[in-house]
Amino acid sequence: MTSAAFDFIDRTDTASLKWDKYRGRDILPLWVADMDFAAPPAVLAAIGERLQHGVLGYTNPPDSLVEAVIEYARAHYGWAIEADWFVWLPGLVQGLNLACRAVGQAGDAVLTATPVYPPFLRAPGLAERELITVPLEDKGDYWGWDFAKLEAAITPATRLLLLCHPHNPVGRAWSRLELDTLLCIARRHNLVVCSDEIHCDLLLDDGLQHTPFANLDPEFAHQTITLLAPSKTWNLPGLGCSLALIPDPALRARFRREMAGLVPSVNLFGYIAAEAAYRDDGRWHAELLDVLRVNRALLADAFAGSPLKLTIPQATYLAWVDARSIDAENPLPQFEALGVGLSDGRDFGFPGYLRLNFGCPTATLQQALERMKPLLHPVGS
Ligand SMILES: Cc1ncc(COP(=O)(O)O)c(C=O)c1O
Repeated sequence: MTSAAFDFIDRTDTASLKWDKYRGRDILPLWVADMDFAAPPAVLAAIGERLQHGVLGYTNPPDSLVEAVIEYARAHYGWAIEADWFVWLPGLVQGLNLACRAVGQAGDAVLTATPVYPPFLRAPGLAERELITVPLEDKGDYWGWDFAKLEAAITPATRLLLLCHPHNPVGRAWSRLELDTLLCIARRHNLVVCSDEIHCDLLLDDGLQHTPFANLDPEFAHQTITLLAPSKTWNLPGLGCSLALIPDPALRARFRREMAGLVPSVNLFGYIAAEAAYRDDGRWHAELLDVLRVNRALLADAFAGSPLKLTIPQATYLAWVDARSIDAENPLPQFEALGVGLSDGRDFGFPGYLRLNFGCPTATLQQALERMKPLLHPVGS
């Protein structure tokens, strides 16, 4: 049994990006990756307390926040990170774009695996880099790599691998073997690896342990940029507080140079919320994972025997659906017509697929699945 903290909260008329998309229409929004839950009580209390002070001036990243992240990384991932490595950012997407600009030169190439969170596909072009994509493979119950294909796609101009770990949208927490293989490839081709680990505390399968890519090998750590944020785990995306961890001083200086004069500092409440989240006692987080596991099980049941194929995610609150049997190009309107709004696979580089965000109260998901039934289980199929 979970507490009322994960019950329905009406988000209409709160300028919510997720809910405004279908304003005035009876469509349940299960698209953009934020959850319909209030942030943990400890986070809300810390924001309230700071607000009492009343002065909302320019704010440095608090030393106590840096200490909290260092301690969290030690305790949760066995990863020893250093205060010098930190670069605070108002968003992780900026981190992806900055990584593309900070590595190599215009005309170089950036490699990534599809389907993938859309900014991975846009950032290289915005940085005047060539985008090289290699498809992940549907292996039946899970998605995995074709390492031979990945390596064959690397050109002499390829400088950077953008890795999503755990992976949005296919829900994989990459195994040690997969990570070690990626490390070997990156080493062989002298690539920098930018690892977006924003979903790393949303591991749903029992016994999973997050391995930061940068912690695989101390020497190779100098060729890594790790992007982290409290925003997915503790549901704080509207506060814009993320960080890049860059162990190599020269790479970090280059990254900072690309930021200069353009990237604003994190807002005061972003820092306050982040520290409270990283220092929270873990109970809210454990309850959240329970809710997400219940939702994931509901999804698995609802899709069993359907002509549509849902890959059960190991991690994240996002599920990836092969809906090509409905429409190989764009099945989304058929779901919207039934009152459910999903993310369009074309944005992830995979037409005919959809992403479903199950970070919502179980009752909301049940309602959405009920509405989707005619597509999940067409009469006569
Ligand atoms: C893999 C990944 N990276 C980055 C982001 C967004 O990060 P931010 O809101 O900090 O820019 C998301 C949000 O869905 C994501 O899934």
